[in-house]
Amino acid sequence: MRKKMVAGNWKMNNTISESLQYLDVIKDKINNNDIDVVFCVPSLNIMKIQDKLENTKISVGCQNMHFEESGAFTGEISAKMLKEAKVQYVIVGHSERRQYFGENDEIVNKKTVQALKHGLTPITCVGETLENREQGITIELVRTQVKVALNNISKDDVVKVILAYEPIWAIGTGVTATSAQAEEVCKEIRKVLTEIYDKETSDKVRILYGGSVNGKNAKELFSMENIDGGLVGGASLKPEFEQVVNYLEGK
Ligand code: 13P
Repeated sequence: MRKKMVAGNWKMNNTISESLQYLDVIKDKINNNDIDVVFCVPSLNIMKIQDKLENTKISVGCQNMHFEESGAFTGEISAKMLKEAKVQYVIVGHSERRQYFGENDEIVNKKTVQALKHGLTPITCVGETLENREQGITIELVRTQVKVALNNISKDDVVKVILAYEPIWAIGTGVTATSAQAEEVCKEIRKVLTEIYDKETSDKVRILYGGSVNGKNAKELFSMENIDGGLVGGASLKPEFEQVVNYLEGK
């Protein structure tokens, strides 16, 4: 069966000292062996955080990387750099990258391919805007996002990809998708995976839900058949994160 996962996306929050202070509070409370836990942190903080999290159950991830090997790409970070820093996970195609930095489905595909090439685990994000949802094109749009993101990725490689469904209208708004809404789309994503690959492969791929996940709603969301955990923004910056990770103990 698929192992559950909770990935915290810190976004552009926490200096190094703030990170270390927060990790002092939270790190020993995360000791659930049934769940993979990762903090995707600002890249400048990675090395210090790696040291801090040694011998804990928390892995370190990055929030973005470039799809080229190296070269004249000012301000960017390569897969090779992340690998050498012993980073395992990298978020690819977050909606904020798409919205503010012009990333499209093709770029998301190139980054996903590049992460796999270097043995990193991409957490590849898809999701619709409120306008898309009101237009009734959520399923169609997410199907296309998944298909393009996974273009030219083999059956053996796709099982290493983690997909994250993050409806943009639910990000940072406090408005969570209902468990039924989230499950509907995650189920459809699994269906697309079966269409592209096969059922056996599709059943192995982890699909996360993201968008205003917190200590209170995690249990219901993560208990859905096709939701294998969460990609968590705001609540990953607070001690409340412990309740998201230990969601089974929640009410
Ligand atoms: P929030 O949990 O703050 O809504 O953010 C979700 C997100 O974008 C995680 O990548």
